[in-house]
Amino acid sequence: MLFFMFFCVFLAVSVDCRVVPGLNLDYFSEYGSNCVNYLIAEPGVCLKYEECETVKVDEKFNIKPQICPTNETLGLNLVCCHEKPIHAKIDYSLLDNYTDVDICFISQPIYREPKEPIPRGKRAWEMCLEYQEVSIKARQLHELKVLAGVGGVNARLREFPHMVLLGYGKNFSKAEFNCGGSVISDRYVLTAAHCRYSPGVGFVTFAVIGILDRYETPAEQDIYGVKKIIKHPMYKPPKKYHDIALLEMDRRVIFDIHVMPACLHVGDPVDDSEAYATGWGYLGQAKELATVLQKIPLWQVSNDTCIQKFSPYRRHLPNGIDDASQMCYGDDGEPRDTCEGDSGGPLQIMSKKIYCMYVILGVTSFGITACGEIGYPGVYTRVSNYVPWIESIVWP
Ligand SMILES: *[C@@H]1O[C@H](CO)[C@@H](O)[C@H](O)[C@H]1NC(C)=O
Ligand SMILES: *[C@@H]1O[C@H](CO)[C@@H](O)[C@H](O)[C@H]1NC(C)=O
Ligand SMILES: *[C@@H]1O[C@H](CO)[C@@H](O)[C@H](O)[C@H]1NC(C)=O
Ligand SMILES: *[C@@H]1O[C@H](CO)[C@@H](O)[C@H](O)[C@H]1NC(C)=O
Repeated sequence: MLFFMFFCVFLAVSVDCRVVPGLNLDYFSEYGSNCVNYLIAEPGVCLKYEECETVKVDEKFNIKPQICPTNETLGLNLVCCHEKPIHAKIDYSLLDNYTDVDICFISQPIYREPKEPIPRGKRAWEMCLEYQEVSIKARQLHELKVLAGVGGVNARLREFPHMVLLGYGKNFSKAEFNCGGSVISDRYVLTAAHCRYSPGVGFVTFAVIGILDRYETPAEQDIYGVKKIIKHPMYKPPKKYHDIALLEMDRRVIFDIHVMPACLHVGDPVDDSEAYATGWGYLGQAKELATVLQKIPLWQVSNDTCIQKFSPYRRHLPNGIDDASQMCYGDDGEPRDTCEGDSGGPLQIMSKKIYCMYVILGVTSFGITACGEIGYPGVYTRVSNYVPWIESIVWP
C-alpha cells in the first residue's frame, strides 16, 4: 500500500451520537410553517425574506438569515423569522464549538442554478445541487431534534460526511483499513486505483461510512460491502497515471447528518490555491495511526514546480508528471509535524457556488518524502479530468 505524507492538524471533534437514523426525504418547510433558530433554540415562522424585518436588523449585526428549506424551484427564499431580532440573545461562545460547515448551514442560501455555464460535467453539477438540498434537510432535522430536546447547541456535527475508510480482507473483524475514499452518490465511492488492492490482504471489501474515529466500532448500517471495483481503464500499474477508481457499494448509501456525498470539481474556475486533504493516516514516521480523522491544509504547487519535483522515474512515472491528469499540493514551507495519511481520500475545498458542499479537486495518489521533511509536495489525481468517465458510470 502506498502511503502519502501529510502535515497533521488535529481536528478536535468529539464523537456525537447519531440522532437521525435515516432521512425523511419528504421533509420540507412550507410558507408559514414553524422553524427553530439554531443559535438561540427559539421557535420562529418560515416567511419570505422580504417580509421579515427582524432578519434585516440581525443582518446589520452580522447574523445571516437562517433558511427554511423548501422544495420550490427558484424564487422562494424562506427564512426563519422571529418576532424580535435575535442578535442580543446569541451566546457567541457557542459559536466556538461549530465547524465551518455548521456555520455555513446556519447562514447560507441554497443555490439551485449554476451561476455560470458549466464546461462539462453538467450531470455531476445537477447532482451536486440535489445533494445540497438533501444535506440541508438532514441538518435541519438534526438540529430540530437536538435543540428541541436539550435547549442548547452543544452537539458537534460531522465535518466531512463524505469520508470513507476502506477495509481489506474477507472477515470484517480482521480487516485492515489502509485507504480512504469519498462518497459521491448513493451508490459510489471515489478512491485511488491503487487502493483497489492491498498487498498481502487482498482486494478492498469494506467501506465504512460515517465514522470519525478509526477505532470506534461502527454500527452495522455504516459498514458497506464493495460489490464492484471499477478502476480507470487506463490505469496500468506500476505506472502511477490515472490513479482513480470507483467502488460500487452493495446497497444504497443512506444519507443523514453523518453521511453525505461530496461534489466533483467539473472544471469550472474555483479558488483552489488552498485545499484540505483528509484521512486517517500515520501521525508521523514510526508513530501510530491517527485515531480521529485528520484535516490537513495544503497549498497548490504550480505545474512547473510539480513537474520539476517528480522527474521521470523508471516504469512508475516514465513521462514524469502529466499536469492534465495529476497535480501537486504541498506545505507552505512552515515547519510542522509531518505524517502519512491514507491514499484514496479526497483533496477538497468548500464550494463558493453551491454553498455548504465540498468539492473534490483531487484523489490522494502518492508522495515521496519521509515524515519530518518539508518542501516535497504530494501528487493528486486531478478529478476534473475524469468527470466524463465518472458520470458515465455513476449517473449514466
Ligand atoms: C413539493 O412540491 C410538490 C409539487 O412540486 C407538491 O405537491 C408538494 O406538496 C410539495 N411538498 C411540500 C412538503 O411542500
Ligand atoms: C464547547 O465544547 C467543549 C468541549 O466539548 C465544552 O467543554 C464546552 O462547554 C463547549 N462550549 C459551549 C459554550 O458549549
Ligand atoms: C471472523 O473472525 C472472527 C474473530 O476471529 C471469528 O469469530 C468469526 O467466525 C470470523 N467470521 C468469518 C465469517 O469467518
Ligand atoms: C496545470 O495544468 C492544467 C492542465 O494541463 C491546468 O488546467 C491547470 O490550470 C494548471 N494549473 C496551474 C496551477 O497552473
